Amino acid sequence: MADHIESVLTEKRSFPPSDEFASRAHIRSRAEYDALVSRARENPEAHWEAIARELHWFKPWSQALDWSNPPFAKWFTGATTNLSYNCLDRHLTTHRKNKAALIWEGEPGDIRILTYQMLYQEVCKFGNVLKKLGVERGDRVALYMPLVPELAIAMLACARIGAVHTIVFGGFSAEALRDRINDAKAKLVVTADGGWRRGQVVPLKANVDAAIENTPTITGVVVYRRCGNSIVMKAGRDHDWGEMMAAVDARCPAEELDSEHPLFILYTSGTTGKPKGVLHTTGGYMTGAYITTKWVFDLREEDTYWCTADIGWVTGHSYVVYGPLANGAASVMYEGAPNHPDPGRFWQIIERHGVNIFYTAPTAIRAFIKWGEQWPAKSDLKSLRLLGTVGEPINPEAWMWYREVIGGGRCPIVDTWWQTETGAIMITPIPGAVPTKPGTATLPFPGIDAEVVDKQGKPVPPNSGGYLVVRKPWPSMMRTIFGDDERYKRQYWSEFPGCYFTGDGARRDSDGYFWIMGRVDDVINVAGHRLGTMEIESALVSHPAVAEAAVIGKPDDLKGESVFAFVTLKQGQEGTPALRDELKAWVVKEIGAIARPDDIRFADLLPKTRSGKIMRRLLREIASGKATGDTTTLEDRSVLEKLRAQEEEE
Ligand code: WT7
Repeated sequence: MADHIESVLTEKRSFPPSDEFASRAHIRSRAEYDALVSRARENPEAHWEAIARELHWFKPWSQALDWSNPPFAKWFTGATTNLSYNCLDRHLTTHRKNKAALIWEGEPGDIRILTYQMLYQEVCKFGNVLKKLGVERGDRVALYMPLVPELAIAMLACARIGAVHTIVFGGFSAEALRDRINDAKAKLVVTADGGWRRGQVVPLKANVDAAIENTPTITGVVVYRRCGNSIVMKAGRDHDWGEMMAAVDARCPAEELDSEHPLFILYTSGTTGKPKGVLHTTGGYMTGAYITTKWVFDLREEDTYWCTADIGWVTGHSYVVYGPLANGAASVMYEGAPNHPDPGRFWQIIERHGVNIFYTAPTAIRAFIKWGEQWPAKSDLKSLRLLGTVGEPINPEAWMWYREVIGGGRCPIVDTWWQTETGAIMITPIPGAVPTKPGTATLPFPGIDAEVVDKQGKPVPPNSGGYLVVRKPWPSMMRTIFGDDERYKRQYWSEFPGCYFTGDGARRDSDGYFWIMGRVDDVINVAGHRLGTMEIESALVSHPAVAEAAVIGKPDDLKGESVFAFVTLKQGQEGTPALRDELKAWVVKEIGAIARPDDIRFADLLPKTRSGKIMRRLLREIASGKATGDTTTLEDRSVLEKLRAQEEEE
């Protein structure tokens, strides 16, 4: 690990919440926010207890936090609850009974709306289907589905009966599915014949067939018919969703589950080794997902809320399904690609459903920038009142574009930092209270004790880089890596004793705002100066010709590492040698000579994982001319071929 990370990006623009926004917000001023933060600091447990009391518990807790065996936390011990009950039953005695819970659009253009009452009925029925197929409390169920309402139904049905879901993103291969099923020892797979993606059918059932040739724990498969593509149904093993649902009754009481009952396992990649099964449990996760959705998105009863994430990622778990439904919100789901049938699709969805709150990823925003302003200009986006981002640092120029072009200059932007492991948003502006600045996730959520420390674990002074840690347990924290307590301890709790280590580098500015500098392994060392690759990328993206940039360190005899930049240009721009020189000079102007890229390679597209993360390891290998290793998580293989071909030309 690096000793010390230098931070060189400076950003002076600041956007306080408008009076109009603040006056109607849950948290209306900086003073109110500061009071909340200091109460939470004095007594974090009382703070979380007050929030948890907004939800339904069958039996109250005897202790808010049991931290007697760190790092294994127990929250709300002795209590019983049920997350499916809190997302559904709780609303049925209120005006929300006939409110839209899910507003869903399929990629081909079909629309379905499920009210809370309708969703409740479906969830109860599927709970009974699961039981009929022998699923019991604590059993794991793998969900490998397209983004259809039935995925949310299956999740809520698992939660209802105390089964543990493990969702595998529909873009993963049969191999990846098999490994996850085996690690989780899942009993059942729920899938679909296929799912729509850019007008093509993704053959989910065929992948399941291949995956479960080698999964000894699987006893059955439930298949939802989405695309009507031809599939093989194996008698005795495979069950048709529709037929099963028609044969069960619609009463399925929510089980009273211990607060620490496991809720889900979600696999995420580490820097080394096989994917880690991040385990989340019931009461604490519910509390975190609920309150962050309410305060960060400033959710109001009448809002139409849209988080564009796939449910196969944690963002979809917490902010498409559980957080919004626990709040009784109307949550929009869209099945397909943002550019199908054309790059205006998202903006049409916003206009059609009158979306008020829109939460997406910087990688998507950079794609929209590349496709051009003419697409959002075709739709009426005036319903929007709040924008959010998550997943990676957002370049200040992309932030400004988002604010002006999508938000019409009037919507606050919440840049939310968190991880699969944290379960819920950790560092974020509270939109009615905290002024935003482009490129920073601002301040910790009330009750979260985040800090930037040096290698010895001591807080670093303002504006110097360090390691992002969390010093106190919080309710939605992961409980362990499924089946590997030792790896959980080692990976997250051994680097800085007593602290959760996020793996991210960060700095705090003189206002105490957190600037995430990316994973510490994305830090490069140039002549003894450690630079966050994100900062150089932001500088490149701020050039008018550039749409996206990825910077990696290339081994260099003199400097340790040299700066190697892959750059995607906006449509209509040409990657000439003159532009290459101009961009180098631009970075020098924006950051300084230390960050000058030694190499710039123009690329049509960058190699990304299916979740949109740039595969820096591959870029490093390309930059150093080495043979490439594992590419199984790469979204589009042709990208790699193109980059390699260019290498030969040069
Ligand atoms: C990593 C977690 C949490 C949902 C999506 C990703 C990076 C996430 C931000 C942000 C800068 C961010 C961090 C983090 N990250 N949000 N707002 N600003 N970086 O979940 O796959 O678990 O990845 O994503 O590096 O550690 P994940």
